[in-house]
Amino acid sequence: MSDKSAAWNTKNLGIPDEFSKFVRHHPSELMLRSLFSSTYSTNPPKITSDTRVLDIGAMYMNNLVPFHDRGARCFGVEINEDMVSIARRCAEQQSIAADIRVGSNRSLGHENDSFDIVLSINVVHYENDQAGLRAAIEEYHRVLDKDGRLFVVSAGSEHYIRLNAKHLGPNRFEITADDFRRGQVMAYFEDEAQLGELLSEKFRLVETGRVIEKHARANVDFLYAVAVK
Ligand SMILES: C[S@@+](CC[C@H](N)C(=O)[O-])C[C@H]1O[C@@H](n2cnc3c(N)ncnc32)[C@H](O)[C@@H]1O
Repeated sequence: MSDKSAAWNTKNLGIPDEFSKFVRHHPSELMLRSLFSSTYSTNPPKITSDTRVLDIGAMYMNNLVPFHDRGARCFGVEINEDMVSIARRCAEQQSIAADIRVGSNRSLGHENDSFDIVLSINVVHYENDQAGLRAAIEEYHRVLDKDGRLFVVSAGSEHYIRLNAKHLGPNRFEITADDFRRGQVMAYFEDEAQLGELLSEKFRLVETGRVIEKHARANVDFLYAVAVK
């Protein structure tokens, strides 16, 4: 396992030894607007008890909660065994029935055409470069069924972790922020337009957006897309 993958672990995330002290996390508001409402996206999915949804980097299971509430079939992948165990304990604590296994952006460990929805929320940039981004997009496309929806989110240029990153070359950014990811190279999309362009190489309909929140101490900036296979 690379150092970058191994950095995702109980210690770096500060998970308490006594898991009952762990407080559940909440779903992405951006995902709720994009996928659960017809006000924002042109192509929001239908979510029923037949829907098969895969969350890549499921971590605290927070983004699967609204799917579970609607009876959907929930699947998660995590980058290593420690992270799988965190996700499984989070699922158990919230009574979410889910298939959670080891998998990564470029190797999801599921058959072709297995899902109606694939979530990649702040996960795709753990690739190393543009080739990695393309390979991840191809893998997301492979596991989606016909007409399946991909929801992808990554950090934009104003995001506090990316803000002072060193731009090493196309889609290569070295993190300088004071964080456990300091020194790692992330494959961020250059901008919203490039996110759309790379997705359009594989997906038949692609819609992109951007959300910037300005706060007193730090800003967040998310580039996102809903793409249809
Ligand atoms: C910033 S967290 C996001 C967690 C969750 N998706 C969310 O939005 O709350 C990044 C997640 O990506 C996972 N991860 C790291 N490298 C990965 C890779 N190469 N492929 C897939 N997942 C990865 C981490 O274990 C972690 O769960």
